[in-house]
Amino acid sequence: MEQTVAPVEMKKRKDIAFYNYEYTTLDQVKISPLDRGYYFGDGVYEVTKVHNGKCFALSYHLDRLYRSLRLMKIPATIAPDELTELHDVLVEESGVQNGSVYLQITRGTAPRVHDFPEGITPNILMYVNEDNPHKAELAKNGAHVITIDDIRWQHCDVKSLNLIPNVLGAEKARQKKCAEAFQFRGDELMEGTSSNVFMVRDGILWTRPADDLILKGITRQLIITKVAPSCGITVIERKIDREYLAKAEEVFYTSTTAGIIPVLKIDKETVGDGTIGPVTKALQERYAGLMAEGLP
Ligand code: PDD
Repeated sequence: MEQTVAPVEMKKRKDIAFYNYEYTTLDQVKISPLDRGYYFGDGVYEVTKVHNGKCFALSYHLDRLYRSLRLMKIPATIAPDELTELHDVLVEESGVQNGSVYLQITRGTAPRVHDFPEGITPNILMYVNEDNPHKAELAKNGAHVITIDDIRWQHCDVKSLNLIPNVLGAEKARQKKCAEAFQFRGDELMEGTSSNVFMVRDGILWTRPADDLILKGITRQLIITKVAPSCGITVIERKIDREYLAKAEEVFYTSTTAGIIPVLKIDKETVGDGTIGPVTKALQERYAGLMAEGLP
């Protein structure tokens, strides 16, 4: 790793940022207008949960980050242990107890041509966000969602900066006073604009298999591999169509920043009996336990 400028003489600053091997504050980060992230969305990102002052499941996020870099053909110029250390330092120096670390790597800075310019170095940006209290309210009280067409590309498994369809979908949901928009390709449920979707039927948990067309969410992965098994709940990964979803006893969506959000209404249809169901509650409780235990 290049020599980093140590974050000395900085008091705990929520707005501490790391940009290209220097610690600074968010408002002091200077990004060139020729950054390819700026004009092409040519980069990848990760969002890692900070719980009680510690990163949660960071190694999972870093695995996905390197996969995104490989698929986008962006060279990895920083090692996982360096990124781990940077996460720890930023969280510590920010003083943030509950929030998330945002990490973004763009292909680099060069005059605007579509193909990859030679000899450019990726730009690395990191900073810490505090939790949005609105999400805790949604987790407790449940959410209403809308459904929209999935108009994204064929590689939604890459956590790319290109999020325009997601942004438009999230705004459409907001205009309808809903918390999320579930995206459908034809009749098939894919995922939310920034979340994965689960449904409960006959006490079994169902979710779409993670292929190229959805993001393999870390929260989703942890529910499938750790949380549901420890609650004694069976998970089946299979495609879900509108008719199947309409018969759900419970529905929820998941993400790093939101955790597990119960869904009480989809468009105009009430889910189950319109209250937060027992499977969702059990998973929320166990997931909170897992976060409290911590996970590298
Ligand atoms: N979004 N699907 C999409 C399209 C997402 O953007 C996200 C996360 C998820 C859930 O993934 P995870 O459980 O790893 O957070 C699924 C992040 C939080 C964001 O864009 O802010």
